[in-house]
Amino acid sequence: MVGLPARGKSYIARKVARYLSWLGHKTKVFNVGSYRRSLLGAQQNATFFDPDNSEGQRSLSELAMRALDDMTQWFDTGGQVGIYDATNTTRARRAIVAERCRAKGVSVVFIESICDDPRVIDANVRETKLSSPDYLGSDPDAAVDDFRKRIANYGRIYEPVADDEGSYIKIIDVGRQVVLNRISGYIPDRILPLLIRMHVTPRPILFTRHGESEFNAKGLLGGDPELSPRGAEYARSLAKFIDARFGDKPVTVWTSTLRRTIQTASALNRKSVAWRTLDEIDGGICDGMTYAEIKAKMPDIAAARSLDKFGYRYPRGESYADVIQRVERVIIEMERQRTPVLVVGHQAVLRALYAYFTDQPAQECPYLSVPLHTVIELTPTAYGVAEKRHRLEPLIED
Ligand code: SIN
Repeated sequence: MVGLPARGKSYIARKVARYLSWLGHKTKVFNVGSYRRSLLGAQQNATFFDPDNSEGQRSLSELAMRALDDMTQWFDTGGQVGIYDATNTTRARRAIVAERCRAKGVSVVFIESICDDPRVIDANVRETKLSSPDYLGSDPDAAVDDFRKRIANYGRIYEPVADDEGSYIKIIDVGRQVVLNRISGYIPDRILPLLIRMHVTPRPILFTRHGESEFNAKGLLGGDPELSPRGAEYARSLAKFIDARFGDKPVTVWTSTLRRTIQTASALNRKSVAWRTLDEIDGGICDGMTYAEIKAKMPDIAAARSLDKFGYRYPRGESYADVIQRVERVIIEMERQRTPVLVVGHQAVLRALYAYFTDQPAQECPYLSVPLHTVIELTPTAYGVAEKRHRLEPLIED
């Protein structure tokens, strides 16, 4: 990462880490500010960051090198993508980082966040810095004033990344403009769509499974059944809930191409889009069977699946790991949306989407609770996600 303080570097770093981890790449953020807080305590004021304060600069440089050492050692233990989250505002510092990584055979891409809009910077300082341990218990106005001085100190030595420094992605004014230099390779290709669509407009994301289907009522997997009468009742409750929650405001509604999600969404009286990508995990030769039947007739399948529910792929079907790769496109599209998004989906697919937004290890997907007849409302915040669950009728066991 590269950029002055309060340019959203840590936000970007965490988001990229969450995304790549979810896709199965061993990714870790090394945040130099956290090293400072844990080694020196949190209460340094702006003078600590003054380029003329030689003691402060020496400490900062030691901390930066310690985090870099940890990151390079972590590559030796199987780490794949290290995100070095620091200001890295000078050419000299970036040259050291690049050299140390190259010595390990690790490619480097600088992600520089540039923003000169005082409103955005001010909002970022007030939203994230005032609640940081750096200013715990401080007067808010004094804290803002100190943080502005810290930014000005870094500004005195800031050298934006130049073309001859290698690969970079510059994100200007929170995605208004993105500039690329010498970008190639799998990981940069994977993160670019995310970086381009990222924004900080708060909006809720709502997940619900379809109403109970004829198959749910009989304990059968998959298929393309209709809603049961109880499922149709849920569709009406859902419509009332969404109207009460959002009124006339626009809501983006997505379903799969299977009847049970389309029927659930049709009660909403809002335009919806059906994505094949959101279809339920493909049960292959087990589609249309009950778990008990699979156990009795195909014990090998039941045993292999219980050993590795995440990686197990149904014969001629899919695994949870496959579902994650399949729904990646939906995640990118959700990141772009600025209005509330409601996904009327299926258990396995919603588990995969939920794991991404709540930063859960992908392997946990098969065990995440996504019950029928419940709306899960997630609101992404600067450093995480707030969750509320609305059960619209007594829970149905499934
Ligand atoms: C910090 O100490 O908060 C950041 C240090 C840096 O990256 O310059």
